[in-house]
Amino acid sequence: MNTEYLKITGDAAEDEHVIARAAEVIRRGGLVAIPTETVYGLAGSALLEDSAKKIYAAKGRPSDNPLIVHIALPEDAERIAYPGPLYRALAGRFMPGPLTVVLRKKACIPDTVTAGGDTVAVRCPSNPVAHRLIEVSGHPIAAPSANRSGIPSPTTAEHVLSDMNGRIDMILDGGPCEIGLESTVIRLDGDDACTILRPGAVTADMLGEVCRTVRISPAVIEPALADGIKPESPGMKYRHYAPRADLILVDAPHDAFVRYVRENASGRFGVLSANEDAGSFTGGMALLTGPRGDAKEAARRLFSLLRRADEAELETVYAELPPPDGETLAYYNRIIRAAGCRIVKPGESE
Ligand code: TXA
Ligand code: MG
Repeated sequence: MNTEYLKITGDAAEDEHVIARAAEVIRRGGLVAIPTETVYGLAGSALLEDSAKKIYAAKGRPSDNPLIVHIALPEDAERIAYPGPLYRALAGRFMPGPLTVVLRKKACIPDTVTAGGDTVAVRCPSNPVAHRLIEVSGHPIAAPSANRSGIPSPTTAEHVLSDMNGRIDMILDGGPCEIGLESTVIRLDGDDACTILRPGAVTADMLGEVCRTVRISPAVIEPALADGIKPESPGMKYRHYAPRADLILVDAPHDAFVRYVRENASGRFGVLSANEDAGSFTGGMALLTGPRGDAKEAARRLFSLLRRADEAELETVYAELPPPDGETLAYYNRIIRAAGCRIVKPGESE
């Protein structure tokens, strides 16, 4: 298949024409990679079973891991699910934006989209290209991250091209994604509580402005699910976001981390480090996460840096383990999975 690569230029008339063509591809059951504020999505109609099948095939994704359905307006959730007052309160505060809410699904959403489950994950993206495409196509849009299953999510259209060229109909290049990590996924528990199934830019504290109780699913923080525990969100159980390089997470104060890398790194290695540490690791490639303490910038760059490590054919990448809370929870959750949950603590026997 020939994959068309089209740029969003900022010229209103041209962009409207490009989006109209992409919407036509969606309506006839094809796949289009689109920018969102989080990561690039692989979009197909959420009303057509065949589109969902094509999405799983293009990604090489296990078909028991359900897709998120994207809508143009928060109130469009009514078309595909049964939203209640808590959904409306959360939507009023966080939509459009990087929040996905799991709701009981209506029959118009094929089982293939929800992997056979009776719930559907609903998200209303703020990216104007994504928004307009959903609006013009007239279809709710199923869109997982547009990477091949298992590797880091794409945050630029070039990343998508390298994963999906020849496998999908079209790629819309809307520039790099603002947030860089996928949306926060929550389940609603009754009238005023929710559980975070996947952390993202909408943090537990922010959700606490609307929900009386905010729980965090243990699988978000724990490196691996114990055998026999059924994951609440199927995406939790797979190895994810992983570069080909060996990613080694070091759980230590900053000075001990620097010492550990200096003493142990050899071969073709890289270090995920703040700009201030660019010169600290001679012989290694500095993969710069931005100014120290800038959690948003580090999130924006993480997947792109993991891909760059592979382009540079690094054998090993070292990274500091961030605290599993607040603004760094999403980064923590992605990086422990990218590392296959291997964490070293210098000083402890290895
Ligand atoms: O930011 C995002 O959410 C991006 C962009 C493209 O919108 N999409 C995305 O989709 O990350 P995907 O398919 O890569 O991840 C969807 C996650 C998975 O962890 C999946 O298990 C979970 O959402 N999920 C989907 N439907 C669910 C459901 N009905 N119940 C529980 N978890 C669900
Ligand atoms: Mg994904």
